[in-house]
Amino acid sequence: MTAYEIILKKRNGQELNSAEIQYMVNGLLSGEVPDYQFSAFLMAIYFQGMNFNETSALTQAMINSGKVIDLSIIPYPKVDKHSTGGVGDKVSLVLAPLVASLDVCVPMISGRALGHTGGTLDKLESIPNFRTALSEDDFIKILQKINVSIIGATEELVPADKKIYALRDVTATVDSIPLIAASIMSKKLSEGIDGLVLDIKVGQGAFMKTLREAKQLARVMCAIGRVKNKKVTALLTDMSQPLGNTVGNALEIWEAIQTLKGYGPKDLQEITLALGAEMLKTARNLSYNTAKKLLRKALFSGQALEKFRMLIKMQGGDEQVIENYSLLPHPKYRLSVAASKTGYIAKLDAFKVGILSIELGCGRRTVNDKIDHSAGFVFKKKIGDKVTKGEELAVVYGNNLEKVRYVSDQLVSAYKIVQKKVKPPKLILIKITNP
Ligand code: URA
Repeated sequence: MTAYEIILKKRNGQELNSAEIQYMVNGLLSGEVPDYQFSAFLMAIYFQGMNFNETSALTQAMINSGKVIDLSIIPYPKVDKHSTGGVGDKVSLVLAPLVASLDVCVPMISGRALGHTGGTLDKLESIPNFRTALSEDDFIKILQKINVSIIGATEELVPADKKIYALRDVTATVDSIPLIAASIMSKKLSEGIDGLVLDIKVGQGAFMKTLREAKQLARVMCAIGRVKNKKVTALLTDMSQPLGNTVGNALEIWEAIQTLKGYGPKDLQEITLALGAEMLKTARNLSYNTAKKLLRKALFSGQALEKFRMLIKMQGGDEQVIENYSLLPHPKYRLSVAASKTGYIAKLDAFKVGILSIELGCGRRTVNDKIDHSAGFVFKKKIGDKVTKGEELAVVYGNNLEKVRYVSDQLVSAYKIVQKKVKPPKLILIKITNP
């Protein structure tokens, strides 16, 4: 078997067996299959797709590339949440400490910015000295102490995802159902969890643009969970416009802390509470309403915020950031974007915002790009809001004046203003679960 033959087989639309898929993943990690051949393999998968057996085999090959963590030492139920990726999606930053503050262990292995979407790890690294690259031992120690830790895939944990994720990010092969399903499920099934809640984003700013594709992705991931005897619940949620009012790494940390103080935007609160309720139901067999009540109490009493403080401290970060936002990176420049006419906001295109956020330096164009943690957007108006001509729609932040100017000019076209009243989009669309 050679990489060439396997690429050719997939390119021609034939089904691969698990040995062939394992060969490619092993080869990528050992260096026997060079990046350029693996990139061609990814592109072949992108165009030809993979059936359930192939997707399941790819997930298993990726799990096999590292260790599966044994968390049996922890007495609490272990449940995690993962998003398929969105713009302004800072849910994990609020949800992980929130659920962990209610006697559920949340062992979270997260990702970096991918394509036009942001990454939890990049956001957390805006906090001075926060470490996302921890050993498995340190990860478990932190979980034993505080029930929550958020780290990235490492050389020990799903190293295949780390490598493949970075290649997909720069080869336009992100928005593929089998590749997303295998990437997410390999990370989650290596965490030693009992159950998983998925946030499948749908709409312009998501990798799945239509409800049909999102349902298909949810079903594949739930089915992979079932093969592994894990309860998986997926909520399909709106990503037509950015979630919350900020996009950008440090800005999203600020908004997450504000939310943990009880001052979060309504959409972020609603999605966090809905996902949290599913996590509590999975972990503690509570009814939806009891779970929601407990979550609200923990969110608005400061209990979840204290858990976030401990998380920052345990991972080496400066927890004073919670009281002192000036410790976060600050950009040199800020430019306002104003409404060109009076009316109602009918569109705030999350995909355009995501692409512009890369332009500002919030994400990466190539694997080795450095991120500008201070750059991003604050949205003053979102879908359904009334606006008068000249009123501020958004503020653009960054350290490169030319880019801030360019992005401010472009951002106008992400908005659509109409004369008729507009309803904000429904946030939670469908729930899919495995029995
Ligand atoms: N999040 C992941 O971890 N992987 C993907 O492929 C997409 C979103």
